[in-house]
Amino acid sequence: MNKRSEYISLSRDQTCSIAEEMAAGAATGDIYCLSGELGCGKTVFAKGFGKGLGVRAEITSPTFTIVNAYEASAQRLPFYHFDAYRIERLEAMDDTGYEEYFYGGGVCLIEWAERIQEIIPPGAVWIRIEKDFSQPEDFRRIISGGETF
Ligand SMILES: Nc1ncnc2c1ncn2[C@@H]1O[C@H](COP(=O)(O)OP(=O)(O)OP(=O)(O)O)[C@@H](O)[C@H]1O
Ligand SMILES: [Mg+2]
Repeated sequence: MNKRSEYISLSRDQTCSIAEEMAAGAATGDIYCLSGELGCGKTVFAKGFGKGLGVRAEITSPTFTIVNAYEASAQRLPFYHFDAYRIERLEAMDDTGYEEYFYGGGVCLIEWAERIQEIIPPGAVWIRIEKDFSQPEDFRRIISGGETF
């Protein structure tokens, strides 16, 4: 699954669809790490990804809460959506109870994962979203399958 792939997205909807497709291949215990600058589309990606896992609730940014947990009911697997943007020190992650999510029975997706890379388990899938200023404003390059950000 950690094969390197590159996708081009030209709209918010395309990013959602790419993420939705990627979620179809997700399995228990998988950790997806998203990196990329402010506003590049990490939360958009998370929305599509959650949809792909069958989450029915609206997926919103967990910036202030660090993690939003969508436990399995109708959906295929529990979905744990993190945003590490506000993590200043690694110890602050302990308060989130992250280990139960990382090593639980669901799928984790972590925005700003590069900020907490010390605690990311080996085998996580890194996904980088890049803008390209030589391209139209909504252009994004989505590179998945690297070993780190
Ligand atoms: N191809 C695209 N893919 C995703 N989002 C796009 C694309 N083109 C334009 N956008 C816009 O870029 C913005 C992405 O916002 P989003 O909140 O997903 O970014 P983010 O990476 O999560 O930011 P933050 O670092 O603040 O969490 C949205 O306003 C979205 O409509
Ligand atoms: Mg975000």
